[in-house]
Amino acid sequence: MRIGRWSRFFVFALITFTGRAQTAPAPAAHKPVHGIASPPAVALTPPMGWNSWNFFAEKVTDQDIRNAADQMVATGMKDAGYVYINIDDTWEGERDANGVLHANSKFPDMKALADYVHAKGLKLGIYSSPGPKTCAGYAASLDHEVQDAQMYASWGVDYLKYDLCSFIPAVMQKQAPDDRAEQMRLMLAAYKKMADALKATGRPIVYSLCQYGWDAVWEWGPSVGANLWRTTGDIQANWNSVYAILNAQAGLAKYAGPGHWNDPDMLEVGNGKLTLAEDRTHFSMWAMLAAPLLAGNDLPNMKPEVKAILTDREVIAIDQDRLGHEATRAYSEGEVDVWTRRLAEGALAVAVVNAGSARYSTHPFHLSLARLGLHGPLAAQNLWTGETMTLTDGMPLEIGSHDILLVRIAEPK
Ligand code: GLA
Repeated sequence: MRIGRWSRFFVFALITFTGRAQTAPAPAAHKPVHGIASPPAVALTPPMGWNSWNFFAEKVTDQDIRNAADQMVATGMKDAGYVYINIDDTWEGERDANGVLHANSKFPDMKALADYVHAKGLKLGIYSSPGPKTCAGYAASLDHEVQDAQMYASWGVDYLKYDLCSFIPAVMQKQAPDDRAEQMRLMLAAYKKMADALKATGRPIVYSLCQYGWDAVWEWGPSVGANLWRTTGDIQANWNSVYAILNAQAGLAKYAGPGHWNDPDMLEVGNGKLTLAEDRTHFSMWAMLAAPLLAGNDLPNMKPEVKAILTDREVIAIDQDRLGHEATRAYSEGEVDVWTRRLAEGALAVAVVNAGSARYSTHPFHLSLARLGLHGPLAAQNLWTGETMTLTDGMPLEIGSHDILLVRIAEPK
């Protein structure tokens, strides 16, 4: 939708040209809502599901959501752990005289849609903004937070993505021009207001901030009740985007853990120009990062190779490891990056990414166990081939361009 693109540009320009604080003020204390029991904890492992934006964008309809739910079951994705079917932007219609927001004609009956999704053993997600409009220019939640939260709960919504967008010009810039500290306070208060409204419904609802990774959101996200927060701008279905986002995650591991996750954006596996090697690397690394695994592809037309990647149990187990330790980048050499992630029961996952563009540009690559603090020989399981291999210090590795070696070491030493 054209207005959406313009408002996105406007927000980007505004932030770029007005400058923004690099550090956040001290987070506000998170006070419980009095007299209301907190709903059960959610997102104890990174949320898994599907979101409409990356493939359907503004065109998504009720039928697309039903199809996604059907396919989640039929393809075995549900059995592999995917739960949430998330409607992104452009479902919104107009508010009536009582301020009640109605869905637009693409979504004739939200309650019936939620019932349909729930009947399949899945959960439903929805999208809004703390500003007056969503990023695509549809009605959003400013001054209607409690009303909207209650409506979501009455429909049976289980997940909310709350996208900053128009809140910047409409509130931050308007109410506090040139005062970054006050703008930050307004933003945190708006995010917390919706968190409290969701909590007051008594329904467990995953709360996802979409704020593009500005203002060190990982430092204050938990204080405003968030279960996850975007750490980057929008992902695109090409290698440069995926690899740039991956590298931008280095240093954020300490902010992730059960109930609160860094979100490097939704998966593009199966979309656009990504090759199978790139899909494999993207999926593997999002698992290493303890990222939400929200597929964003066309499920009814998913190729078997793409399904095999998205449903790989061993790789999903890395993402869902109960300790919730996000991977750290151990070292880079030439165009090869080595990341490690500590797992439950003392195990360790090691990922070696070849970002080189020519197949043999960086070969042979010699893996240094010493730089990982390990001593070989070590028995490891190659998670994409299922083979057992022995890792030794300085061993040569053959990894194709934009591909990955992902191994699990049960007993690292
Ligand atoms: C922003 C978000 C995207 C998507 C769109 C919808 O760009 O970052 O993930 O939700 O808005 O308009």
